[in-house]
Amino acid sequence: MHHAPAKIILFGEHAVVYGQPAIAVPFTALQATADSEPTPPGTGLTIIASDLQQQLHIKDADTMLDNALLRSAQLTLNKLNVPTPDLNITVRSTIPLASGLGSGAAVSAALIRELSAAVGCPLEGDELNALVFEVEKMHHGTPSGIDNTVIVKGAPVYFIKGQPPQTFDIGAPLTFVIADSGIQASTRESVGAVRELYDNDPDTYQGFFEEIGAIVNEARGHIEHGNLNDIGHLMNRNHHLLNILTVSSPLLNTLVSTARETGALGAKLSGGGRGGNVIALVEPDNAHWVADAFREAGAVRTWVTTVGKS
Ligand code: MEV
Repeated sequence: MHHAPAKIILFGEHAVVYGQPAIAVPFTALQATADSEPTPPGTGLTIIASDLQQQLHIKDADTMLDNALLRSAQLTLNKLNVPTPDLNITVRSTIPLASGLGSGAAVSAALIRELSAAVGCPLEGDELNALVFEVEKMHHGTPSGIDNTVIVKGAPVYFIKGQPPQTFDIGAPLTFVIADSGIQASTRESVGAVRELYDNDPDTYQGFFEEIGAIVNEARGHIEHGNLNDIGHLMNRNHHLLNILTVSSPLLNTLVSTARETGALGAKLSGGGRGGNVIALVEPDNAHWVADAFREAGAVRTWVTTVGKS
């Protein structure tokens, strides 16, 4: 059995597509898993996506070109240059779909880990990351690579597109409440909408991206030094800029203000936006109050996670 975690972007989504830095962490309470069992000779490879009630056979890979699971398997077998094994792989995930938590990248990473191990050539690190990135292009069009990178690495990353991810210290534990708005939103669409705004007015939008990049760099310093109030303040500023980029929504804005009114140190949308999730940085004792307030304000699910626990 192989796994891959969900992810949350703490700072810098969208601007990261334009070369600015971003910070993301794995969210291990939610996981994609893949498990396999050998099947009789000649049966080929079947992928069972039990949550989606899908059963896919690798021989369909040429006709179902847009299927991310088949594409993951096909890329793995091509990369390893091995024949199709006789295998059933069952993929499951507790990560809500299209919620900004990286479900697509996590499912691909778990599947590629399981398949490559089953054929005796386990893929990890940069090689795995490169394959998951290929599959991400199907989901997102022009992904920056941050989702696959943090999910494959399974550790906090400071990320700039096209560069090796950097790790950094976390000076004091950070407790986040995550709220799922329950609205599924396509990252491809929100990234496309920002692209259109940028193409129509590159100077203005480049300015917004640079402001977000400066927030990310400031945030990294405060994360390293454990300055929780400053981190919260920067989350609020980052959300304001994401709102200007039109990737927030009335519900996400309500969730963000609710968190702040309930004493969160800061709050912002996380990921592609327009739906998906909101994160709030809280004092640990206040986490359940913020979670309750999120649900009263319309969140369908909430989770609490602490990053950098010793
Ligand atoms: C999606 O999780 C993050 C975005 O910045 C897109 C990307 O980086 O590819 C919105």
